[in-house]
Amino acid sequence: MRVDTTGKISLGHIYTRPDPRAYFGTLRGLDYHIPELAKPHFRGLIAEYREAHRVPVPTVLDIGCSYGINAALVKYDATMDDLYDRYSGRDAHRHTRGTLLTRDRELVRSVDREDQVRFLGLDASAEALSYALEAGFLDGAVHADLENGDPTDRQRSQLAETDLAISTGCLGYVTERTISRIVAAHGERRPWMAHFVLRMFPFDAVAETLAAAGYETVRRDGLFRQRRFATPEERSLVLDRLADVGVDPSGLETGGWFYAQLYISRPST
Ligand SMILES: C[S@@+](CC[C@H](N)C(=O)[O-])C[C@H]1O[C@@H](n2cnc3c(N)ncnc32)[C@H](O)[C@@H]1O
Repeated sequence: MRVDTTGKISLGHIYTRPDPRAYFGTLRGLDYHIPELAKPHFRGLIAEYREAHRVPVPTVLDIGCSYGINAALVKYDATMDDLYDRYSGRDAHRHTRGTLLTRDRELVRSVDREDQVRFLGLDASAEALSYALEAGFLDGAVHADLENGDPTDRQRSQLAETDLAISTGCLGYVTERTISRIVAAHGERRPWMAHFVLRMFPFDAVAETLAAAGYETVRRDGLFRQRRFATPEERSLVLDRLADVGVDPSGLETGGWFYAQLYISRPST
């Protein structure tokens, strides 16, 4: 299996398929479940924002949303186990993209959470975004790579709607370059942020960029298992990388899992 420059296996090929079967089929084998662990934290923060800002229907921007996974969990109350069954269960190969979408739209129709939160997805994968939109998981999509360029005017006005920006499994692919473009989109209103970030990716540069924009960042207590290492090579490269960034993996990553931390950033000035 190929690895990328960070030592993680390259999963780019499963992010750009027309439907989520390869994504869930691959990640099931690695016990990827960080969106499930993130769900109560995101829900809690959305509720806090609603209360603090008296915004009945906050807009959440999910950075690196892929097939709309956090939206399916937070807004439509799916679980990762549901999604693994849905897209990589025994009958998954009998479906077409169209029949998968029909079944997803039934889920969306069956859950009455429409009035509580809006989800925008930002991703570099047009295929994943188009699936998430057609399924109804997302209310809007921004197809952009803000690591490598500014948003268009239309994208900037979509990003400007953001009340809270969240992410799972994406920081590392995206950096302070993307985060600063999101913060700048509105001009005045600055979104709250909640990012689950692997310990191998220091958050310092993002926190510093946010501090310069008047934010305070707090790391929540706790460590969150993201997924298992795919191969002994990945384990060894990631342990090296942790050592390089001064993180002691004893009793944690040495046990075979990636661990993430949760950073919450809010404007303080
Ligand atoms: C590991 S997946 C995480 C998906 C989802 N958040 C989850 O936890 O299941 C990473 C996602 O980041 C997206 N991505 C990678 N680089 C990106 C970039 N520069 N800008 C936006 N999205 C990016 C990929 O297309 C992919 O959908």
